[in-house]
Amino acid sequence: MILVAADIQNSGTVLAWKLMCAENPGLAAIEQGIRLVEANETDWSVGRGGYPNAQGEVELDAGVMDGRNRASGAVAGLHGYLHPVSVAYEVMQRLPHVLLVGAGAAQFAEEVGAEKADLLTDTMRENLIKWQKSVGLNQPSTDLIGAVHRGMDPQHTGGTTVYLAQDSQGDIAVATSTSGWAWKYPGRVGDTPIAGAGFFADNRYGAAACTGRGEMAIRSGLARLTVALMQMGRTVEEAVSEALKDVFYLGDKRGEIHLYAIDTRGNHDVACIGPVRPAGNEHYYFVARDGDPEPGRQYPRHIDE
Ligand code: GLY
Repeated sequence: MILVAADIQNSGTVLAWKLMCAENPGLAAIEQGIRLVEANETDWSVGRGGYPNAQGEVELDAGVMDGRNRASGAVAGLHGYLHPVSVAYEVMQRLPHVLLVGAGAAQFAEEVGAEKADLLTDTMRENLIKWQKSVGLNQPSTDLIGAVHRGMDPQHTGGTTVYLAQDSQGDIAVATSTSGWAWKYPGRVGDTPIAGAGFFADNRYGAAACTGRGEMAIRSGLARLTVALMQMGRTVEEAVSEALKDVFYLGDKRGEIHLYAIDTRGNHDVACIGPVRPAGNEHYYFVARDGDPEPGRQYPRHIDE
């Protein structure tokens, strides 16, 4: 068994690992873990309390994949519901579709009885007003395209939650959830709900998931590429390094990506590209393996161009 999680406040890994140790299926366990992250309103990148778009709407993205047959479900631009990861899981289980967006995703969430929530917290509303003022959006004539460019903050493009697991049955699964890029253009969708870009799982080879600048993961098909490299015989470290080096081709020096991967033999690797974060502001992640009482903190490798 192994659990690897990007969960900056460690909100859900203890529960997910406990459920896995009690021999629950990995996908159900990581869904439960991510629900705690989504409900944590001090985590600014996911669920309630997450960053809104440039006009103040919190639009949530999430995805799941079951490595037994690569069944997948995802939602993008969902607003008004607390647990996008669970709605994504329901899409996988109840519909002959993979991805629902916007109003259709909300209609489906309503139909399956998903929990509603006011996602914009007072703290985030204050941050939004400050940001809108800083890019001139308090003036009626300011164009939104220009404001989104002026307000780009590379430190706030990521923070996505990703969980990867191989459970006691050897089954591999991945799940993701995010509020996406802070102050994004309304309707912007990152890699988190895109199978093959932000997440991918296959029992035969392993799983991968990404955080950071989702546009780069989409343009690279990054999670799929990583698992395909393992399929071609690379070790998990080789696959992660090779996949991230491929992203350099995009030429975006400011974009940061963290790539998380596990193989079928209990190995994992996490590496990142992009600006080196200052001491004290590094991203870290959590890992637990057979025999561990709970997940412990680790730091990713940095790969230079
Ligand atoms: N990786 C999350 C996003 O770009 O929305």
